[in-house]
Amino acid sequence: MCGIIAYFGNRKAVPVLIDGLKKLEYRGYDSAGICLLNEGVPAEQGLLYVAKVKGRVSELEKIIPSSEVSKIGIAHTRWATHGEPSEVNAHPHFDCKKEIAVVHNGIIENYGALKEILENEGHKFASKTDSEVVSHLIEKFYQGNLEEAVVKALKLVEGTFGLAIMCKGEKKIVVARRGSPIVLGIGENENIIASDAVAVLPYTKKVIYLKDNEMVVLTENNYSIKNFNGQEVEKIIDEIKWSASEIEKKGYKHFMLKEIFEQPNAIENTLRGRIDNDSKIKLTVDIDLKSIKRVIIVACGTSWHSALIGKYLIEKIAKISVEVDYASEFRYRNPIIGAGDLLMVISQSGETADVLAALREGKNKGAKTLGIINVVGSTVAREVDSGIYLHAGPEIGVASTKAFSCQVTALLLFAIFFAQHKGEKVDKELISEIAFLPGKVDEVLHESDKILEIAKKFKDAQDFIYLGRGINFPVALEGALKLKEISYIHAEGYPAAEMKHGPIALIDEKMPVLFLATKDNTYSKILSNMEEVRARGGQVIAVVNEAGNDINNLTKNVIVVPKCREEITPIINTIPLQLLAYHIANLKGIDVDKPKNLAKSVTVE
Ligand code: AGP
Repeated sequence: MCGIIAYFGNRKAVPVLIDGLKKLEYRGYDSAGICLLNEGVPAEQGLLYVAKVKGRVSELEKIIPSSEVSKIGIAHTRWATHGEPSEVNAHPHFDCKKEIAVVHNGIIENYGALKEILENEGHKFASKTDSEVVSHLIEKFYQGNLEEAVVKALKLVEGTFGLAIMCKGEKKIVVARRGSPIVLGIGENENIIASDAVAVLPYTKKVIYLKDNEMVVLTENNYSIKNFNGQEVEKIIDEIKWSASEIEKKGYKHFMLKEIFEQPNAIENTLRGRIDNDSKIKLTVDIDLKSIKRVIIVACGTSWHSALIGKYLIEKIAKISVEVDYASEFRYRNPIIGAGDLLMVISQSGETADVLAALREGKNKGAKTLGIINVVGSTVAREVDSGIYLHAGPEIGVASTKAFSCQVTALLLFAIFFAQHKGEKVDKELISEIAFLPGKVDEVLHESDKILEIAKKFKDAQDFIYLGRGINFPVALEGALKLKEISYIHAEGYPAAEMKHGPIALIDEKMPVLFLATKDNTYSKILSNMEEVRARGGQVIAVVNEAGNDINNLTKNVIVVPKCREEITPIINTIPLQLLAYHIANLKGIDVDKPKNLAKSVTVE
């Protein structure tokens, strides 16, 4: 979480840093700060200009005077871990003399012990953050060379960090990474460092992704990359494939709405070139799948819901056993995993700390690893044995939408690919129906206004229940998560048949219950569950692909989606739930792209 950015170049730093922070705000937005190395005075006298606010980057922008013309600076947008959101806890943090400025993303796990040592040595701390120990540690070791002091300080630090550091008297920015993403954008007479390539994209497409235990030193028109032993490291310059316009709202009120409506196109991109004329799936998976005896999928949040659907698809189509675990639980239960296992990790960002820890655990124990990732060059993408990129384009809205539908599409492709490798027969009709998926998603998007009317009826509900069965049970979980995240309405997802084992106690006239009731072999059972809700006064919302009298007699709140094979229903059925959550949250006046307490990329454990 948290976004950091640093600029050293030939234009005014403030607009670059503020614009970059706005693009990184999805990583955290409870407070923000900036520090500039003032020019117009000799470097050795260079002064630090500092501004911090509690709140959004737009508030920070308001207080920086236009007279700040410095071309060197660092900035930060925060998602609080240690210390509440406040001006004093906002970054940058300083040493005692206020000459060393630090912005930090990550967690300094041994900050308590370090702080005690430093306080005993006379250092006075201003904030409640873990990050402040870094500036005091650097001060402790500083003898006129910032780079050297940083290296000495980082040897004592445990935990994760993406750091950008400046100090009065040296015309340079030192950046270091361990466990938190850092990308260097290489421009013409300017260099930009950020937590995510989206912040450097307006200036350059040439980037270098830092690995753990690497640092960059930015100086006038120059950069050098070293390891923490001071040795220069050779790095490959990558090219960002996304265009700057892809990270704009393009007339939509929110990124989330734009991303919901981008789904037909995004799914098309996930599918592109991956189904050949003989109905063979083409994926570049460099793993001997014939040697795989079991699949384990780990992920978090929305990606965990895709994993649950993936289990259903891989078991049904490739006929191999699949286990699904929360990445955060997997690592700590000493999992039984090793040779013969395929550990799949699903992560939109490719930077989720829990996912990375689970991936490393599986790798260390000898499993083969396969990633399903959206962000090219992300840490997961670089650490897995093999990967399948979604090509969904940047997802900025905190609530994941298009990444989910593309993950499920990729899992469907992988299930068929795996089956074809094992020599399992795959129904050709299924493969040909996949080609119609983008068009069917587009049809659902046309229901948006109707879904808005349903949203108006239920926007003031306190609680919601989502029910689905089989492959659509994870869709119920995802629908409930979307609503919780952005509307702050309490919502639970259950397998429909579980309702009578407990949740039915909650049903009364105030409780909306959304049923995923597209036709499959459990349809008649779902209808009975709806009757049970109606009998207790509950209000039914139904997502169906055939609106007959059986449904119409039970509820007026019916959302009709196109018919498709069961394997494809999770993608189709999720779209109305995304729209319902969006419309409810928007009607409630919530900042849908930045809901409270959340951050898009969860880079702390
Ligand atoms: C989804 O709407 C959430 N914001 C969240 O659950 C997210 O899916 C989770 O943090 C995992 O992120 P990842 O896919 O980038 O690993």
